[in-house]
Amino acid sequence: MIIQTPIAQLIINWFHFYGRKELPWKKTNKIYKIWISEIMLQRTKVSTVIPFYNKFIKKFPSFKKLEKSNLNQILYYWSGLGYYSRAHNIYKSVKIIKKKHSGKLPNTIKDLIKLPGIGKTTAGAILSFSINSFVSILDSNIERVLKRFYYIKNINTNNNYKKYLWKVIEKITPIQQTNKFNQGIMDIGSLICTPINPKCIICPLKNFCISYKKKIIYIKKSNNYKKNIVLKKYFMIILQNKNYVFLEKRKKNKIWNQLFCFPSFLSIKNIKKWLIEKKIQIKKIKKLKKIIHKLSNFNMLIIPIIVLCKKKNIYNLNKLSNNYIWFNLLKNDKIAVPSPIKKILLNINKYIREK
Ligand code: ADE
Repeated sequence: MIIQTPIAQLIINWFHFYGRKELPWKKTNKIYKIWISEIMLQRTKVSTVIPFYNKFIKKFPSFKKLEKSNLNQILYYWSGLGYYSRAHNIYKSVKIIKKKHSGKLPNTIKDLIKLPGIGKTTAGAILSFSINSFVSILDSNIERVLKRFYYIKNINTNNNYKKYLWKVIEKITPIQQTNKFNQGIMDIGSLICTPINPKCIICPLKNFCISYKKKIIYIKKSNNYKKNIVLKKYFMIILQNKNYVFLEKRKKNKIWNQLFCFPSFLSIKNIKKWLIEKKIQIKKIKKLKKIIHKLSNFNMLIIPIIVLCKKKNIYNLNKLSNNYIWFNLLKNDKIAVPSPIKKILLNINKYIREK
């Protein structure tokens, strides 16, 4: 059973002085902007999100503006932020909101969780931070605070454990100033009650925290747990003709779905086959510096290879088509590319300018 403590008041008081009120999405209560921020913040750090949020909102300041965009534009402004399914979900949601909610974001949990990519926590955050609804949130930061504060051990099956944590958070969420409580407990989790080396000394909850009383120390873990992450090798062929490089749109159901990328291969043998098949007239081939790109479940080792070719004879088109483009390095058309491709483009760009 949960022991009643003044946890809510302690959190609200702390938020008043130390909470992150300066974050760009804290300066608005527009449900549209809060929606975008909460989707961006899923599985992504605040510091990473800030510049992407600012650029996105500058380009699409309202739902009306976003409604007029297309998937490529949304992906372009998402480019570099990762987890691109979120951008696809925003695009799908726009269509649903237009059709089912007359162009207005729904303001109930029931309707919000029907939108793609929105679960109970994201819906709660959207409603709490826009219209200050009395709703609870349970993200990984809050989970950690609860686990330590009440010294809850994960003994049950994962599902029961989650259900229990929801019960706990729902019990302690205050009816008044819910938004401050929700943001405050998230901020404490992210700034003070960190996964390793938590800053208990400055924690407003320490006098009631069971883990603190029990002197349980969450010290720095070694990096050994990262050992098992798989490294997959990809060769990327950068077909270059003067200041143009060839990019193709990634297929559905693949990583980087619908983003533009260099043709990629798992072996040199496949590259050779492809170059012959496409009748590429090669002038020169050069390997560029390898890039390691970290993803959530594996790491990519990218080996970029520039193939200078005599003609743009592969799909002979200059302008943006549906599935491929000869990209003009000196023009920088707004096409959506994943971050390692952006890096490579920038490097080739430098190389061309210097020549
Ligand atoms: N993570 C998810 N929502 C957040 C918010 N509103 N502020 C900080 N981190 C968050």
